[in-house]
Amino acid sequence: MYKVHCLNNISAKGLELLDENYQLTDNVEEADVILVRSANMHEMDIPANLKAVARAGAGVNNIPLEKLAEAGVAVFNTPGANANAVKELVLAGMLLASRDIIGGVQWCRDNAADENIGKAAEKAKKQFAGTEITGKTLGVIGLGAIGKLVARAAEALGMKVVGYDPYSSAEKAAEISPNLVYVEDLADLYPQADFVTIHVPATPATKGMVDAEALAQMKDDVVLLNFARDTLVDDAALTAAMEAGRVRAYVTDFANPAVMQMPRAIVIPHLGASTEEAEDNCAIMAVQEVMAYLADGTKTHCVNM
Ligand code: MLT
Repeated sequence: MYKVHCLNNISAKGLELLDENYQLTDNVEEADVILVRSANMHEMDIPANLKAVARAGAGVNNIPLEKLAEAGVAVFNTPGANANAVKELVLAGMLLASRDIIGGVQWCRDNAADENIGKAAEKAKKQFAGTEITGKTLGVIGLGAIGKLVARAAEALGMKVVGYDPYSSAEKAAEISPNLVYVEDLADLYPQADFVTIHVPATPATKGMVDAEALAQMKDDVVLLNFARDTLVDDAALTAAMEAGRVRAYVTDFANPAVMQMPRAIVIPHLGASTEEAEDNCAIMAVQEVMAYLADGTKTHCVNM
């Protein structure tokens, strides 16, 4: 009987797939399998019987991959299982940065007690005027599971899309959409894009990739969206670009002290994958991967061995 410990809340839709060979345990020390979402496992002692870790999500930066590989523990993730949820939040982020929805909603809340709110609203609305995303250009960095959904959705909303991915090609990008303009160099994406959205994993190579040099190549008034990982952006460089008035907004799913000080940041508390559907999909995929591995060694979406 394999003992399964959940380090975070894992959707029941996944857990109910565990067959008679599995049993849930509250005691992490006796775990054969750990299911995890965002809990940081880097400082954790590795349970003696641990055989597999499955992350219900795509990013694995909260998991010590090498240390676990050395201990013979396979780590799995669930790429794509929450891509639709992240895509939808990215679209919302673009709209929040284009129309002052946040300012308008706050104004209504602040004036809720005003009996003449209808009249006052007519006067106030000028200050919340925005721009449209139709006809604007979106630069998508990373054309994986999330990036490609974002690209297609943006096109459906009337945007032009320029895509970059060092692991892709013009042919593969054409399968995402024949209209997508694929570039082989970020230097060709930045100057074209009114909006730039990043969808790459956090690795040593991508750390701080949006730095002063990258920001200098972007259009004036650009909107930067980061629903991938906060380490991808050099916060000091972005703050300087914002203070110089070059960046219209930074929409990010990652709150940190530097970001909270930025003049025009729209910060969301890592809600990209927080939908019922995404939580179910990730849990189902994570459980299926682990069960297949322990049944016959199948390593679908194993990221460390
Ligand atoms: C992911 O890595 O899949 C997303 O950031 C969502 C999450 O961490 O829950």
